[in-house]
Amino acid sequence: MRDANTSNYKNLKILTGDQALKALDKLLTGPSFNSSKKFILADNHTLLHCLPLLESKVGALQKACVIEIPAGEVNKDIEVCRAVWMSLSQLEADRDSVLINLGGGVVSDIGAFVASTFMRGIRYVNVPTTLMAMVDAAIGGKTGIDLEGLKNMVGTFYLPEAVCIWPSFLNTLPKAHLHSGYAEILKHSLIADPQLWKQLQRRPFSEIVDWLPFIRKSVEIKSAIVNQDLYETGSRKVLNFGHTVGHAIESYSLQMSKKHLLHGEAIAAGMICESYLSNKMTGLSDDHLDQIAGLIHSEFPKVKLPGPEKELLQLMRSDKKNKNETIHFTLLMDIGQVMINQTCPESLIIESLRFYNSIMS
Ligand SMILES: NC(=O)c1ccc[n+]([C@@H]2O[C@H](COP(=O)([O-])OP(=O)(O)OC[C@H]3O[C@@H](n4cnc5c(N)ncnc54)[C@H](O)[C@@H]3O)[C@@H](O)[C@H]2O)c1
Ligand SMILES: [Zn+2]
Repeated sequence: MRDANTSNYKNLKILTGDQALKALDKLLTGPSFNSSKKFILADNHTLLHCLPLLESKVGALQKACVIEIPAGEVNKDIEVCRAVWMSLSQLEADRDSVLINLGGGVVSDIGAFVASTFMRGIRYVNVPTTLMAMVDAAIGGKTGIDLEGLKNMVGTFYLPEAVCIWPSFLNTLPKAHLHSGYAEILKHSLIADPQLWKQLQRRPFSEIVDWLPFIRKSVEIKSAIVNQDLYETGSRKVLNFGHTVGHAIESYSLQMSKKHLLHGEAIAAGMICESYLSNKMTGLSDDHLDQIAGLIHSEFPKVKLPGPEKELLQLMRSDKKNKNETIHFTLLMDIGQVMINQTCPESLIIESLRFYNSIMS
């Protein structure tokens, strides 16, 4: 059994590994939290699958008040936040209280947003239960909710007191959601770590049993980037590779279909399109484009883009990364080398969408 690995990235404490819940218990019974009221935010799935494990392993949370929200991206909205603010108020949370977000990216995005705004800010801890949240959403202090189907339009930057990553939560996670998180690991390798990219090319998704080394690598990459530029004024934008096209695809799918694409599925499609743009605009080689498109094609479910090209372009124009309605991209020059704030002719963006569809047909 491996120990919990505690990494301190500036003021962010990240506990990872088999012993992470034990380390969380120690933290919550220590002087900073001992006398604080504790609240757990969970969705209906994590309440069932993850809460009993958390309560059995973290004594400090056995008497915590549990607040339940409905699962799913469609619930990442202001109504659910309102319900959580109300519950905290009725349960007499005070400014010394701590909120434990037990769930995937939807729970951590909502919980962190609620924590950042309730009584002008209370402390929170993320306990991610999906691969997406372990490698990405729970780290980095971006909080947020969707507005009328537009992704993450309302939110704050607000860091957690700690992130506690216990990989055994993944045992009950449906495979499609594991795939979704895997997309962000691919992204981290493409923007920052050619060695990791090579490793992922050699190891197909289906052969990965132990996710911990990949989680730790992603945490390391993301935390280093966030530490340099928490408020995304510059270098943090490297993390947006695949997300300009990806968010448009995800938003369209959310607005149009009950069975919408998962965040990572949309980002995987976005990475193919933006690798195509990188090939045309920033010198990504033909070989690398083929490798990226080939790996995503072989590892992800084959989905056609969910919308007409014009609608997707319109959604890209309303992306919050833009300035003066010009669509901005983060593009690759090489594996591990990235250029931020790139613009492309709209005809080329449309070509990139067609390139994706030609691969997936
Ligand atoms: N803030 C950030 O920096 C950041 C980064 C990446 C993604 N995100 C956001 O994260 C969200 C996606 O997160 P996600 O992929 O974790 O989705 P999610 O939170 O919707 O979780 C996926 C599904 O799995 C269920 N679930 C969670 N853990 C489980 C477990 N251990 N066992 C069984 N079921 C479980 C959930 O209830 C849900 O139904 C998106 O809204 C995205 O925008 C945010
Ligand atoms: Zn993402």
